[in-house]
Amino acid sequence: MTTSAGDRSRTVLVIGAAGGMCRGINARIAQAGHQVICVDFDAAGAERAAAEIKAGGGDAVDFACDVSSAESVRQLGDSIRDSGLLVDVIVNAAGILDRRYLADHDDDSFDRAVQINLVGPFRVIQEFGPAMAERGWGRIINISSIAGVRGYPYPSYAATKAGLSNLGRSLVKDFRRTGVTVNSICPGVVDTPMVIDEVRRQVAEKVPTGQIITPEEIGALATFLISDDARNINGADLVVDGGATAFYELFD
Ligand SMILES: NC(=O)c1ccc[n+]([C@@H]2O[C@H](COP(=O)([O-])OP(=O)(O)OC[C@H]3O[C@@H](n4cnc5c(N)ncnc54)[C@H](O)[C@@H]3O)[C@@H](O)[C@H]2O)c1
Repeated sequence: MTTSAGDRSRTVLVIGAAGGMCRGINARIAQAGHQVICVDFDAAGAERAAAEIKAGGGDAVDFACDVSSAESVRQLGDSIRDSGLLVDVIVNAAGILDRRYLADHDDDSFDRAVQINLVGPFRVIQEFGPAMAERGWGRIINISSIAGVRGYPYPSYAATKAGLSNLGRSLVKDFRRTGVTVNSICPGVVDTPMVIDEVRRQVAEKVPTGQIITPEEIGALATFLISDDARNINGADLVVDGGATAFYELFD
């Protein structure tokens, strides 16, 4: 099957598929003719995401997985392989935003963010990346954040997203000459339930475009990265923030 862009139809593993941003990512990827494997900690949410894609005429299946558990990610790999599916693309979008400052963190809270936002994507790439490399084509797309590009008030989020971006750059070496690329999309404020009202007001005031980003805009970029035209985009942090990080005045 070919997609609307003339590229081949791919099988795309979306981790965090039940989330707000993934509604747009799932929709755009499915509309381009790709099959979506919807995965989330929230099993009912993953099922809903797949049902939504199918209702729109797309092809989707769903699985539950907790990326903070190595065992759960291994089980996901086994279940997907047992279903006869070959993953061509990974979209690592599972993440938590812990709005705690330094003094408010307890013994485990920082590590929870590390496990979900950073170690989780690493595990997923370890589970599915080598087979993509063996088949000679693949895309790894990590959903990082502008909080990983500049300093940000919540340290566990900023540190794990910066780690995720640099993980992507670093894995370029592991996947060199395999046909697999690794990139990060670093969104600014995207219109999802994760965003609090105060931040919405700041977007209108301070972001050069004055606009909150839609999940579909992020989905459109992810879909482009899956296309053959994107084969030389590799190791990049693709910032989509309406110009928010271009000027330091925006962080006063
Ligand atoms: N919303 C924004 O403005 C924004 C901006 C920049 C980056 N991001 C990043 O984009 C991604 C999606 O964000 P969102 O706004 O859709 O958030 P969201 O909370 O709506 O979605 C996150 C999804 O991840 C899943 N998840 C959480 N822990 C998990 C685990 N251990 N295993 C598997 N799945 C798990 C949740 O169940 C949820 O469905 C996140 O990585 C987030 O950090 C969001």
